[in-house]
Amino acid sequence: MNNHLEVVIREAYEDDLEKIGELLKQIEYIWNGQTRNASSIRGVKKEIRNLVRSRGKNDGIALVAVYEGEVIGYIQAIIYRNRTPPETEVGRLVVDEPYRRQGIASQLYESLEKQLLEYMKERGTKKMKLYAIIDTHNEPSQKFFEKQSYSLEKVKERNGRYYKAEKWLRLS
Ligand SMILES: CC(C)(COP(=O)(O)OP(=O)(O)OC[C@H]1O[C@@H](n2cnc3c(N)ncnc32)[C@H](O)[C@@H]1OP(=O)(O)O)[C@@H](O)C(=O)NCCC(=O)NCCS
Repeated sequence: MNNHLEVVIREAYEDDLEKIGELLKQIEYIWNGQTRNASSIRGVKKEIRNLVRSRGKNDGIALVAVYEGEVIGYIQAIIYRNRTPPETEVGRLVVDEPYRRQGIASQLYESLEKQLLEYMKERGTKKMKLYAIIDTHNEPSQKFFEKQSYSLEKVKERNGRYYKAEKWLRLS
């Protein structure tokens, strides 16, 4: 890494939803030969509101990266605690384009893992599988998850292909 930009990582609040929705437009994926955006702002708001309030049968963590008062990055985790062993989908990772390659996604991710380990300690969960779904064309994201010790497997479905990145988190 050439430059390292230190940012504040904090929980996402409802006031951040508009900005997060804007950032998420930068996540594109190709499905069935067509390029799509990851989400509509309305869909994201509902999802994140649920995460922030942690209602329902799953738990969640939603974090933002803040630089000079501006939200410039986002990451979330949805914990499926009813699965055996519990699984967590890490998703919607995005850093505003001008700020990339400065370690911001890494800071978001490290903070997320720390919180997941805390969650496991509180609940007496010894191990948890983390996974992320990555577009086959998204090399930055593939490299990012490999650097975080995920192993990537190509999955083929009727409408397209993608990578499933997986990693086990264990309490020592
Ligand atoms: C993927 C993404 C979140 C990475 O954010 P970032 O803040 O630039 O990542 P970091 O600076 O923390 O990079 C950490 C490591 O990831 C890998 N990496 C990140 N971007 C990369 C790129 N463009 N090419 C190759 N490797 C890359 C490198 O190993 C890097 O370490 P290094 O800089 O020491 O070589 C960012 O590119 C992004 O927002 N992309 C658009 C949204 C998206 O596709 N999200 C993924 C959805 S699954």
